[in-house]
Formats: sequence, structure tokens, C-alpha cells
Amino acid sequence: MQTLTTNRFKFGKGITLVDDAGTEYLDGVSGTFNLSLGYNHPHVVEKVQEQVGRLTHMSSTFTEPYVNEVLDQLTEHAPNGIDTGWMRDITGSTANECATKIAQKYTQATDIISLFLSHHGQTQFATAISGNAFRRKHFPNSTAANSVHVPAPYCYRCPFNASRPNCGFQCIESIHDHLEYASSGSVACIIIEPILGNGGNIVPPEGYFKLLRKLCDEHGLLLIADEVQTGIGRTGYMFASERFDIQPDMITLAKGLGGIGVPVAAVLMQSRLDVLEKHEHSFTSGSNLISVTAAKSTLEVVSETGFLDEVKLKGEILGDLLHELETKYDCIGEARGVGLMWGLEIVDEDGAPDVAKTNAVIDRAFADQHLILRGSRYGFGNVVKVRPSLTVTTDEIVTIVERLDAVLASVG
Ligand SMILES: Cc1ncc(COP(=O)(O)O)c(C=O)c1O
Repeated sequence: MQTLTTNRFKFGKGITLVDDAGTEYLDGVSGTFNLSLGYNHPHVVEKVQEQVGRLTHMSSTFTEPYVNEVLDQLTEHAPNGIDTGWMRDITGSTANECATKIAQKYTQATDIISLFLSHHGQTQFATAISGNAFRRKHFPNSTAANSVHVPAPYCYRCPFNASRPNCGFQCIESIHDHLEYASSGSVACIIIEPILGNGGNIVPPEGYFKLLRKLCDEHGLLLIADEVQTGIGRTGYMFASERFDIQPDMITLAKGLGGIGVPVAAVLMQSRLDVLEKHEHSFTSGSNLISVTAAKSTLEVVSETGFLDEVKLKGEILGDLLHELETKYDCIGEARGVGLMWGLEIVDEDGAPDVAKTNAVIDRAFADQHLILRGSRYGFGNVVKVRPSLTVTTDEIVTIVERLDAVLASVG
């Protein structure tokens, strides 16, 4: 992992962080992928400030009218008959726990299927259902949950050593085997990220989600789309589920829903799945008024006419520029992404994952170019993420890629 900074940052404006010395750093990854509208979007700042002055917290029973407004805004855009939701969480981890509890209660089944390389959070349960073992080490409860992990649709390094279009979707076929031999025989749901974010910005191939939905229907499983990273416009659509035609039964959200980094989470579902009692899943700060206000004002911005079209357009520009880098530098094995969610897989001369170079790119981007990028220990740890805020300008996209180009030239 990169060894970033001892800088003390003083304020943020747009997609830029400014340190004590007044030095500006361009943030190419939206904070922790959560600043969907950058550091200080005026509309969200204004609404949150107003709310802080008026009322910051009431019991969640009293906040219900405010929560319902946000859920209405969200479900207006949601696919597959998703028409209600739950906003008593503050993090993506517990939103995913909420969705899996719903699945277990509704289906009366226990097991949860998730993908290798997936990340669904860091509570013990969310760690258990996430698809990387290193986070489970030392925490016995995170291996005890009824989780079954199945191979991810990682075509660049296909776990079956196959390639599209002649692979026969072995990653889907293998789920049938896991249901038969690895599960307890009582399976509630499959949870997936539309793009495996931490796992390496892995974009599943065309046709994958259609087959996954079919498999869920055949086995009576609910399909949960964890859109903690991909939701709220990141792919140029309000939900990536729409972009990939996933047809989920539930969608979980956090990160970008808070616009300027205000913590907030939500679970969206079809109303048949509205089975939880309040005492079964509520947190003190869930549906806090600051969070709900941030979500409402963020959605007002993202729903403005033309906003998502612009994200799509900017995503194409970013994608084209990153593909140019892919052609220019042998160390980029693949540039992959959708909308404003991109990753560069960094490889050595033999095509093997090059973690040292990945970290060098991230470190040098920060030190030499004042460009903030991120990697992840997930997978092979060799993917540089490029995911600026949705409010990034075209000029800023060009600058991000120019700086990245200079870094790649310097690491050789
Ligand atoms: C896809 C996904 N789901 C869930 C989570 C967990 O969210 P939180 O950190 O808010 O608990 C994350 C965090 O990185 C994530 O990327």
C-alpha cells in the first residue's frame, strides 16, 4: 500500500485539497470514493449548514418524514420495482448487514453467497461476507457467518484460465457447484458489487448479470447489489444496476450518498421485503438529520437535468485518455472502468501483478505531482484507482491524466 502523507490539510475546494503551506493537491479519487460532489459543493454545504443551525438530531421515529422524502427521491430512480427502503444505518458495512438480515428473515434461509475479491465492509459480519481472507485473519467471528465465497468475473485474470466469449461463464456455472457442495443447503441471497471496487475495479463482462439473475430465480435467492461505491451517479447512472441491467431485489448505498463526505447509508428494496421490525436493525445515528439533509441535497444535485449525462460524457473522456496511457505504457496491463470509476492494472514485463510499481505510482503522484490516487491491498494490490468526484471538470480530468502520464514516465 502507498505510504502517503504527513501534510496537514486545511480545507478543500472542488476536487482540490489545500495544505497548511497553501499547496494544492488534486484529488483523483474523491476522498475515500465518497465525495461524489467534491469537498464543498455549495448546495449541499448550504443545506447542511442550515440544518445544523435548526436541528441536528431527533429520535428516528421523528425523522421519518425527512427520511421518507429521501427514500422517495431514491426509489424514483430505482430499478426492478424497488419502491421502499430503510435508513437507520450510517455506514455501508451495516447497510449490507441490514440487507442480508432482510434476506435471511424473508427467505427463512441462512447462507449468503458473495464473490472472491468483493468488499462489503469491516464489521465482523461484513468482513465474513467479503471475499478476501486477509481481513478475516485474527477475527474468529468473521469466519463463522454463513458465508460462501465464489469466483469473481475477473476476466483479465480469469480464475478458470478461460477467455470471453468462449468461456461458458464458468464463474456463474461454478456457483451452482458451490450451492450444492459448499453451502449449508439453505441459501438466502447473493450479494455483489456491480463493479468490484476495492477488488481492482473489476467490471463484469456483458451477460454476467443476466445469468446471475437467472440463477437467483432458479434457486429462489434474493439478489443484493452493493452500490456503496457505484451508486449515486458514479457510472453515469443513478444506480449501476440500471447501467448493467442487474435487476436486484435490494440495493445498498453509503459513501457518495452524503455528497461532500457526510456519513449516511440506505437500503432500498421491493416492498415485499420490508420485513424488519425497527428493533431488529437501528443505530443511534442512523437517519440523523445532518445525514438525511446531506443525502437529500446531494440527490437534488445529481437529479438535475443533464447532470448524469455530463458524468457519462466526462467518463468517456477519462476512459479515452486512460486507454491512451494503456497503449503508451507496457506496465498498464489493462485500463478498465465505466463512468468516473476507473482502475489501471499495473503489471511487470511478464504480465504479473507489479505491486511495487503500483505503490510507486501512487506515492510519486502524491509527492511529485500533487495528485491523490489510491490503491488497495485487495486482490493482487496492483490496481491504481482513478475516480474523481462527479463534479470534476474536463480540464481537471485532462490535468489528472497529464500528471499520471508524467508519473508513469518517471517510474519506467
Ligand atoms: C462496495 C463497498 N461496500 C461496503 C463498504 C463498507 O462501507 P463503510 O466503510 O461505510 O462501512 C465499502 C467500503 O469501502 C465498499 O467499498
